[in-house]
Amino acid sequence: MDRGSGAKDLEPESIQRSTLTDIKGVPLFSNTLEIWDPLWGFQARPDDLLICTYPKAGTTWLQEIVEMVQSGGDLQKCARAPIYNRIPFIELVHQVLSGLEDAEAMPSPRTLKTHLPVQLLPPSFWEQKCKIIYVARNAKDNAVSYFHFHRMDQEMPEPGTWDQFLEDFITGNVAWGSWFDHVRGWWEAKDRHPILYLFYEDMKEDLAREIRKVAQFLDVELPGPLLEKIVQHTTFANMKANPMANYSTVPTSLMDPAVSTFMRKGNVGDWKENFTVAQSERLDEVCGRELGGSGLTFRTEL
Ligand code: A3P
Repeated sequence: MDRGSGAKDLEPESIQRSTLTDIKGVPLFSNTLEIWDPLWGFQARPDDLLICTYPKAGTTWLQEIVEMVQSGGDLQKCARAPIYNRIPFIELVHQVLSGLEDAEAMPSPRTLKTHLPVQLLPPSFWEQKCKIIYVARNAKDNAVSYFHFHRMDQEMPEPGTWDQFLEDFITGNVAWGSWFDHVRGWWEAKDRHPILYLFYEDMKEDLAREIRKVAQFLDVELPGPLLEKIVQHTTFANMKANPMANYSTVPTSLMDPAVSTFMRKGNVGDWKENFTVAQSERLDEVCGRELGGSGLTFRTEL
């Protein structure tokens, strides 16, 4: 999964593909089970901001936007460390790091990251009424991005072929479980908690508009030139070229850019390169069934 601070210390021979364990009905990395009790008891603070996504929905993009908004566009501050060191990933357990411990040691105000589905979020986030920003991405592009990530990240479970992976994605037999349950669960939660629910496709369509929503949610004033600076800094091309955002600081034995890059294509509609017509129709049908009545709809092209 997305790496944490000690990744560069890893010996290639110690890297193994993860297995998944069912935790309260959701497949998570087996080592998450070891920290489940402290994770569930995690003490959120009222001024914590939580960035929450299904994997590969645009987490890193939103993280960099939030960092820029909160720092008033301070490029030096945003370049102080790789994005995975700036924002702890609370359920990440690694041989040489713990997202949980990093989060606990962090002074306030904290920005934290999780991929947990709504029902597995540690209860203190609700009790403390923490602000949460969620990004959702259409199932087709999300599945393709997740497949390529499995191929390149040597600690993700073996993805098999695209056909096999898509089947696992549709049935929720992948890390962090069902995409449908995830996007729907968080969508419903936004009516009860301070959650800003964003869409990857909207961000691609009009980045300035979506950054303004983030700033408003965080009660930050964004004068025009600052907004433009943040837009420029967080375009796909600029993030792909930014070593503090593009995961190129992770050893190649862990994330192999010869297989696929973290900043891969950054498009809406790339799924068309991967899906057969039958697969597309099948996913449309499952989406209709699983999201029906929720009011939640996705665009698969712009
Ligand atoms: P692709 O694999 O489709 O290219 P996450 O950060 O949640 O792991 O998501 C990674 C996905 O977001 C990748 O998608 C990556 O290219 C895309 N992404 C990252 N930064 C982006 C940006 N600034 N603009 C558009 N897409 C971006």
